[in-house]
Amino acid sequence: MPDGLPTEIDLTRPSAARVYDYFLGGAHNFEIDRQLAEQIASMTPNLAATMRSGREFLRRAVRVLLDAGIDQFLDIGSGIPTVGNVHEVAQGVNPKARVVYVDIDPVAVAHSRELLAGNDLTGVIHADLREPERILAETRQLGLIDFSRPMGILLAGVVHFIPDTDRPEAILAALRAAAAPGSFLVVSHSTFEDQPQEMLDAQRLSARTATEITLRSRAQVTGFFGDWTVVEPGVVHMPLWRPDSPSDVDEHPERFGAFGGVARYDQPAG
Ligand SMILES: C[S@@+](CC[C@H](N)C(=O)[O-])C[C@H]1O[C@@H](n2cnc3c(N)ncnc32)[C@H](O)[C@@H]1O
Repeated sequence: MPDGLPTEIDLTRPSAARVYDYFLGGAHNFEIDRQLAEQIASMTPNLAATMRSGREFLRRAVRVLLDAGIDQFLDIGSGIPTVGNVHEVAQGVNPKARVVYVDIDPVAVAHSRELLAGNDLTGVIHADLREPERILAETRQLGLIDFSRPMGILLAGVVHFIPDTDRPEAILAALRAAAAPGSFLVVSHSTFEDQPQEMLDAQRLSARTATEITLRSRAQVTGFFGDWTVVEPGVVHMPLWRPDSPSDVDEHPERFGAFGGVARYDQPAG
């Protein structure tokens, strides 16, 4: 067991967070993760680009939230901190921005804690998205996020790890219910819509990680925003969501295999 890592890590199974870290060029992964990543990459050479595209979507969405005055973020399924973390983006614009990171993966949590030591405006929680009430309670305990004020709830590339049997719509509803008017919800989610067969085959390989992926339709992803107002341009293939420049948009934005969207909780009328 390498030094400094939590003892509950299962090194005999690949971890989604460490496979993702490998694709992003990070150093926090093991041989078992690299093997699966290479196997997936050989079947879908585009996948590393897909993961970077997901990170780019998240960065653009966080900037839009900052522009709207959001200065506190709850980032669930935050992953292993690699280049362009939410707190880097947020505190780069507003040094007082607060970020709470939540992940189920002990390696992601250990590395996040290490990286964020000394950054008093950030916190890290080891928890499962399937227990939203626990996440909310632990976030309140940390005291970094003021739930009476608008916040940004970030669910980038994580809800597809929740199978239908775990009722993701109820989980999303619980998180939305905890947020004050003016809050934003950011979701990116893998889809089967417009996808070639090899993408669907790669999805089957994800069954070998501790958490299998459930691909969903645009309508299902849109449903996760409940009655919040989906902002322009709606729930779209990720590169199409407010690109920095039109030249950044791939000729085939659907090839990244995931939808992204952002919604705002408008003050209920009356
Ligand atoms: C594809 S990565 C996304 C990382 C980051 N949000 C981004 O967009 O760059 C997915 C992360 O979700 C985490 N995850 C998967 N299932 C989860 C669950 N049930 N609860 C919390 N985190 C989960 C994984 O450990 C992994 O770190």
